[in-house]
Amino acid sequence: MSAGPTLAWDDGAIVTVDQTALPHRHNVLRITTVDELVDAIARLAIRGAPALGIAGALGVALSAYRHGADEPVRRDAARLAAARPTAVNLAWGVDRALSRLAEGADAVLAEATALAAEDERVNRAASSRAADLLRGLCRRPRLRILTHCHTGRLATGGVGTALGAVHHLAGQGQVEMVFATETRPLLQGARLTVWELRDAAIPHRLLVDSAAASALAAGLVDCVVVGADRIAANGDVANKIGTYPLAVAAARHRVPFVVVAPESTIDGATPDGAAISIEQRPSDEVTSVAGVDTTCAGTQAFNPAFDVTPGDLVTAIVTEDRVWYPADPGTGDLADRIDRLATMVEDF
Ligand code: MRU
Repeated sequence: MSAGPTLAWDDGAIVTVDQTALPHRHNVLRITTVDELVDAIARLAIRGAPALGIAGALGVALSAYRHGADEPVRRDAARLAAARPTAVNLAWGVDRALSRLAEGADAVLAEATALAAEDERVNRAASSRAADLLRGLCRRPRLRILTHCHTGRLATGGVGTALGAVHHLAGQGQVEMVFATETRPLLQGARLTVWELRDAAIPHRLLVDSAAASALAAGLVDCVVVGADRIAANGDVANKIGTYPLAVAAARHRVPFVVVAPESTIDGATPDGAAISIEQRPSDEVTSVAGVDTTCAGTQAFNPAFDVTPGDLVTAIVTEDRVWYPADPGTGDLADRIDRLATMVEDF
């Protein structure tokens, strides 16, 4: 796995790896126009909420160097922000870079690169806090963790969010097994999470999305840990399609369900999950796998890219700054809460 940053600025270009081709092909993209960047975001060559924030900010820099003038850059910024609607980090990154436009293109780029460097620190803080929480919640020397989609290095500017916590625990010899869901339809779990876990020599097993509830029911999983694309003010969490059924199954089996995300994913302007715009993707992502048709020609699919998990199913949301307990807004310090939640788990 490349040790460089997920998205780098190199002499007027954004350099990144095409995430759609991994793990079998390592295609480096050199993006020099906003059109190319919008296309890369829309087809998920660049993906994962924090990485989208960095890409959006760097995209404004591309436009600022190209146009200089205010109006065309703002038009490009609007196109970038709309390239994918659910991950709030994309518009957040675009807006942050745009806020420096009056100072010129160098200032826009400085803001974008500062945002990328910040994400590295944010990842480290959130994943280490999440690791502490998970250790306390699960009360086992080595954890069995189920995760969904891909929340690791290429999805962020650092070690990752949910997968960052896994790396953190693994670094201390505290991971027994990671169950990585395939994550249909685009297989971010099978292609990217497995690749990253394998690279880090962390024990893992791949499962089809529909096997997750059975793994929980069989008592094979100590905690479910996922990322987020947008968190509403009430704690409802939009994340990759298939997250909500995981949360339902985790609640049924009293397994902690933990979200790890940067503060920038929390959208105070969105009151609840119902107000989150869910991206709908084309049918052919569902009707074929790796270019091979799997159903009758012309079949229309229902293909939302994300779902919303109500906050009352979320044990904890961990950010670089805090732990938030949407399912248990009562009081109590961390130790009390961990006791309460761990007792529930033991009862089961
Ligand atoms: O459609 P994707 O692959 O961009 O969806 C990504 C996810 O849902 C991730 O869980 C989320 O962005 C967090 S990445 C740290």
